[in-house]
Amino acid sequence: MNNFQFYSPTCFVFGKDTESQAGELVKRFGGTKVLIHFGGGSVVRSGLLDRVKKSLDSEGVAYVELGGVKPNPRSGLVYEGIDLCKKENVDFILAVGGGSVIDSSKAIAAGTVYDGDFWDFYQGKRIEKALSVGTVLTIAAAGSEGSPDSVITKEEGMFKRGASGDAIRPKFSILNPALTQTLPPYQSAAGITDIMAHLYERYLTNTKEVEVTDRLIEALLLTMVHEGPRVIADPNNYEARANIMWAGTLAHNNMCGVGRSQDWLSHSIEHELSALYDCAHGAGLAVTMPAVFKYEMSHNVMRFAQVAVRVWGCQMDFEHPEVTALAGINALQKFLISIGMPSNFAELGAKEEDIPKLVNVLCRGDGRDGTIEGFIKLNEEDCTKIYKMMV
Ligand code: NZQ
Ligand code: ZN
Repeated sequence: MNNFQFYSPTCFVFGKDTESQAGELVKRFGGTKVLIHFGGGSVVRSGLLDRVKKSLDSEGVAYVELGGVKPNPRSGLVYEGIDLCKKENVDFILAVGGGSVIDSSKAIAAGTVYDGDFWDFYQGKRIEKALSVGTVLTIAAAGSEGSPDSVITKEEGMFKRGASGDAIRPKFSILNPALTQTLPPYQSAAGITDIMAHLYERYLTNTKEVEVTDRLIEALLLTMVHEGPRVIADPNNYEARANIMWAGTLAHNNMCGVGRSQDWLSHSIEHELSALYDCAHGAGLAVTMPAVFKYEMSHNVMRFAQVAVRVWGCQMDFEHPEVTALAGINALQKFLISIGMPSNFAELGAKEEDIPKLVNVLCRGDGRDGTIEGFIKLNEEDCTKIYKMMV
């Protein structure tokens, strides 16, 4: 196991009706003037936004509002949010929505107290300072409610890139599983897929002897395999929603990733798909992961065989461990299809003729040197082959 620091200071407030505590929590963490940031309208339709505003009103906390965050959030609205926060002297951002709303909130939080262009952070500059962020989560998926990361797409060039820093970890996150009951089944399934991807990206490590984090990841993957179909079959199953929601947070606050190298090639390769085609990130991952895993499998067959046996119940073939490893990858893909996720380019709305463009932005965009690195190192030829496997 490698040396590590684990810093996860977010206060998680979990359970039914917990959104009524939003006002009290903003006050507890020092907010006096709030920007309520939200998406395309689901929180208006469900009445959640009104409940959150009522909670702020009852604590006497002033606020302004900015809606309109799109899935795969864009830089344009971030600039608008930064201007608004400066003009209104906002000192706390309350994200009410999913990963896209939270990531846009984090970008605004960092950009408001920075003299330069906020995009600098998405080109590698670490975020050291930001306004405080709190979240009321409405979809179990990205894990942004407990992560130090934010992913934004820059409209010029459609670069989808991430920024990081402990300063943007939410001060609190309100997790009420009942709020996820209004999700369309496709979004629930995309969320489940993203959570599983966050677990796989950490499982695929080059660090030896990481039993404790291996076992934590396996437990969370097994939870997803058990609870995912229950939520798809019955969207109102509160207990299944609750288990998935907490698994989503634990999958990505890095509790499962400490002390080990991680992969993240599937995410890098997928981000170009959701940037170009505006597909749901989780749906893109459902198509990307099996291809990437098959491509990198020979690097460490036993790692793939281990997850195949422990999570997917495959029989270990000691003479041909690659057979077991492949069976595990196929079982993952079968599972993702069973919950309604796509399995190829066509189902995702992606086009084979765009592959050179995808590879170019992936490997050369934003100053990259022609390679990307995770569990293995990939060059442009490798990435082309991987995208072709998804066709
Ligand atoms: O915009 P509204 O109207 O709210 O609708 C949203 C959106 O259309 C809808 N939705 C959310 N909660 C709902 C609901 N509809 C009905 N009922 C509810 N309770 O679902 C759609 C998707 O929302 P979005 O926020 O985009 O989903 P998600 O949480 O999957 O976030 C995806 C974004 O997070 C990034 C992804 O790349 C993508 O841009 N990621 C962020 C990470 C991080 N910050 O740590 C890590 C992830 O790997 C990921 O890359
Ligand atoms: Zn993800």
